[in-house]
Amino acid sequence: MRVTVFGIGYVGLVQAAVLADLGNTVTCVDIEQSKVDALKEGHIPIFEPGLEPMVKNNYRGKRLLFTTDAKTAVDNAEVIFIAVGTPMDQDGSADLQYVLKVAETIGQNLTNYSVVVNKSTVPVGTGDKVEAVIKEQIDIRGSDIDFDVVSNPEFLKEGAAIADCSKPDRIILGSNSAKALGVMHNLYAPFNRNHKRTIVMDRRSAELTKYAANCMLATKISFMNEMANIAEQVGADIEMVRNGIGSDPRIGYHFIYPGCGYGGSCFPKDVNALIKTSLDHGHTPQILQSVESVNAAQKIKLEEMVYRHYGTNLAGTVIAVWGGTFKPNTDDIREAPSLVAMSALLEKGATIRLFDPIANEALCAKLGNPDNLFTLDDPMEALTGSDGLMICTEWKMFKAPDFNQIKQSLNHPVIFDGRNLYDPETMTELGIDYYAIGRGKSVKRFD
Ligand code: UDX
Repeated sequence: MRVTVFGIGYVGLVQAAVLADLGNTVTCVDIEQSKVDALKEGHIPIFEPGLEPMVKNNYRGKRLLFTTDAKTAVDNAEVIFIAVGTPMDQDGSADLQYVLKVAETIGQNLTNYSVVVNKSTVPVGTGDKVEAVIKEQIDIRGSDIDFDVVSNPEFLKEGAAIADCSKPDRIILGSNSAKALGVMHNLYAPFNRNHKRTIVMDRRSAELTKYAANCMLATKISFMNEMANIAEQVGADIEMVRNGIGSDPRIGYHFIYPGCGYGGSCFPKDVNALIKTSLDHGHTPQILQSVESVNAAQKIKLEEMVYRHYGTNLAGTVIAVWGGTFKPNTDDIREAPSLVAMSALLEKGATIRLFDPIANEALCAKLGNPDNLFTLDDPMEALTGSDGLMICTEWKMFKAPDFNQIKQSLNHPVIFDGRNLYDPETMTELGIDYYAIGRGKSVKRFD
């Protein structure tokens, strides 16, 4: 089929590459000429396992095209995806200016019946707005071209986006138009061959499904972080508790890992946007407000551990930091807990020796390239001359380090672990002071 994707960001590029890989002809449109040129030369703007070869192969095979020319891209398209950003506004709501601008462009250029698919995460009711904007532009042209707007939210996890897009758990289609649903069923037929994965509903329910999914996952994490804080106070170990509750299939093991708070481009933004939507509609979303405030407090945990150990004047203290991205296997640092911890420590006068496998430069730039922040290319090098080690992201390579080398490299062996990577008893046996999240046994030693 002939598909057009507006927005060559994370969601748009992954969706386009996967659809092109199935044999569709996919035209990606972006307003940034430099991004389009870079992609044509094989430079992929994001780090996502498996994406680069897929983009290159399909570009070479002329199934994946990149352009800034919206007019040609819209002409003849059977399906048009809107996959542009919906950043968080100052008041927490989703900023729809890019989505509505694309809708306007589509309305100005549509020449045949097309299904316009909202892939961006948008507040309930945005489908109606997109439809109205396109219709207005078609009316201005004095045309009567038919179109439909479908909500089809994405559920991609960074680091596993290709797999999530190629083998989705579910495909949500929000529309009451049989014609549009027919087109979408055709497009997604390859995903439904072995397994029926498509769930059809009305557009508003589809829009809310996306928020409900992310908010549910964020709620699980904040709940576990709250349990961890209780565990710490009562001298229990949250990792034992996690295993104990995860074995109940109604609860499950997924998304109950306590840590230094959730980050990324989705959970913080989506929880805030749904809070705003609820308030706008006269409902106070008490659980969501707590999810958000528990997370904000959790992001301060790492710095609190450091203060507990060294006090709040950190002049002369050198902290090695391992990992800075909001989670492993991504170069994304948006809303990363590491940024909160590092900026607090830097402000208190600490020197930081940072190692992240991918995002050293981006993290440094985000923190304003201060003089007391150094980046290293090797995790062990970061320890040399450091007093303690702080772990913000659970990259695989940190899971089984040489603890004797850690001990020898640090001035006074102490680990502040925001991801509960190690066993507190082993740390005690090794003589390493170990602070972690909700691990009563380890923390108790410092009472
Ligand atoms: C999320 C959703 O999982 C995905 O379905 C949606 O489409 C976009 O948002 P993503 O932001 O890529 O995906 O990351 P995810 O793996 O969900 O992790 C989000 C954050 O939660 C990370 O900061 C991670 O460290 C944290 N997390 C996750 C926990 O603290 N504990 C957990 O048990 C799981």
